[in-house]
Amino acid sequence: MTSSLKLSVILMAVGVLSACGSSQIPSAPKPLPEPESIGAQLMKEHCSSCHAPPQPNAHVAAEWPNVIYRMSEKLRLKGYKPMSQDEIDTLATYLQKHAKG
Ligand code: HEC
Repeated sequence: MTSSLKLSVILMAVGVLSACGSSQIPSAPKPLPEPESIGAQLMKEHCSSCHAPPQPNAHVAAEWPNVIYRMSEKLRLKGYKPMSQDEIDTLATYLQKHAKG
């Protein structure tokens, strides 16, 4: 193998890798705001079992506590891991911060 052929093989591999890196994960078409925050992690952990995690701007801030309460009841009824009061509060703060203005 000549060195220039080796180089083109490497360049092709890099091209394939970067093509993968730029594509979106199909199950999460719209990334959540502040994806590294605890709130976003809680959404992935507790709010993705039955449907895709909703966008925080689906509701105005005042509506979110009610929605979370309704959903935590569904979690409980379905036998999923329940959310602690701390987790509910953290999630509410996160959703309200990014809620519809
Ligand atoms: C056990 C299954 C289940 C889990 C877990 C769940 N949901 Fe839901 N969710 C549903 C179902 C069923 C509906 C549609 C019926 C309804 O709206 O009550 C729904 C609808 C919604 C809606 C649209 C209706 C509305 O009121 O805006 C939002 C937003 C939502 N869920 C947010 C959440 C959040 C936030 C969490 C995590 C705390 C969560 N869901 C976890 C089952 C679930």
